[in-house]
Amino acid sequence: MANKISIIGAGMTGSTTAHWLAEREIADIVLVDIVDGMPQGKALDMTEAMPVIGKDVSILGTSDYADTKDSDIVVITAGLPRKPGMSREDLLVKNANIVASVAKETYKYSPDAVYIILTNPLDTMTYMTMKTTGLPPNRVIGQAGILDSARMRAFIAMETGVSVQNINCYVLGGHGDSMVPLRRHSNIAGVPLEKYIEADKLDAIVQRTRKGGGEIVGLLKTGSAFYAPSAAIAQMAEAILKDRHLIVPCAAYLQGEYGVDGIFFGVPVMLGKNGIEKIIEYDLNDEEMAALKKSADAVHASVETLKTLVEI
Ligand code: NAI
Ligand code: 2OP
Repeated sequence: MANKISIIGAGMTGSTTAHWLAEREIADIVLVDIVDGMPQGKALDMTEAMPVIGKDVSILGTSDYADTKDSDIVVITAGLPRKPGMSREDLLVKNANIVASVAKETYKYSPDAVYIILTNPLDTMTYMTMKTTGLPPNRVIGQAGILDSARMRAFIAMETGVSVQNINCYVLGGHGDSMVPLRRHSNIAGVPLEKYIEADKLDAIVQRTRKGGGEIVGLLKTGSAFYAPSAAIAQMAEAILKDRHLIVPCAAYLQGEYGVDGIFFGVPVMLGKNGIEKIIEYDLNDEEMAALKKSADAVHASVETLKTLVEI
């Protein structure tokens, strides 16, 4: 196939990303992990599924970065997931070293790729990928906003019984508990959410969205969400490869937009062949801007901690 996507980290999110991507038949896939035999085994298993689903996709499992050479897209999921009771920030120390090393290694073989980061703490790991590789900001994108918005969409569908296709929600800000679900910009087929859902139920949905990742960790007990996060990555990858100019919330490097400077932060972006083609600025009121500032302060604090741990 003409396109190639390498996924670094073949654990739960990495392997389910490969699965969704193979279903879309948009690129050949390379799965990389440090665990001996695991990426090879998962890739072979998926390869053996291709005749059943009728997709001509090559899926290679490897521990050798040379196999990732000339990827169009690199997805980084390598690192530890949360355990119950942990925040995403608790992963910073361990994941910083992992992401720094895999980003450098992949960049050697695919300097022209678009990089999509998933590892937590998401906004900080995305920042580190840009700093350690020297990639331009448009080619480094963090996945969080599609997932957080999808959670809100799912909860609203569950409450109202309306098709998920009619439900539009936008969750901006950092991928942490201070994320900012934007009620005013969310709607059901163009109609404000308040027309469908009572205020207290909507408040509960907003809170559930903010804590959506923790809810899954609490249920799984041994890891975090993987189906919805990996579906989000597949949507991003397809938008990039097909130059769709799709507008979705992602973590982008901000340089003054939304009053935020020098961090990766969840905002609506337009995805196309160059990665982030454009950052979209919504008109926000004072309350929404204040919520975003609080969230940005949390990401800035995380980046400051990162700078004490690794040289960037
Ligand atoms: P997992 O534990 O199932 O998979 C992680 C994989 O990374 C493991 O297979 C491990 O062997 C591999 N790995 C570790 N060090 C490596 C290295 N140096 N080189 C190559 N591979 C390496 O974890 P899962 O569920 O896939 O989550 C991965 C990360 O993504 C976690 O940090 C998690 O918190 C984050 N995450 C972020 C989301 C988001 O929305 N941004 C959503 C879901 C997960
Ligand atoms: C989530 O929100 C783990 O960050 C991940 O599910």
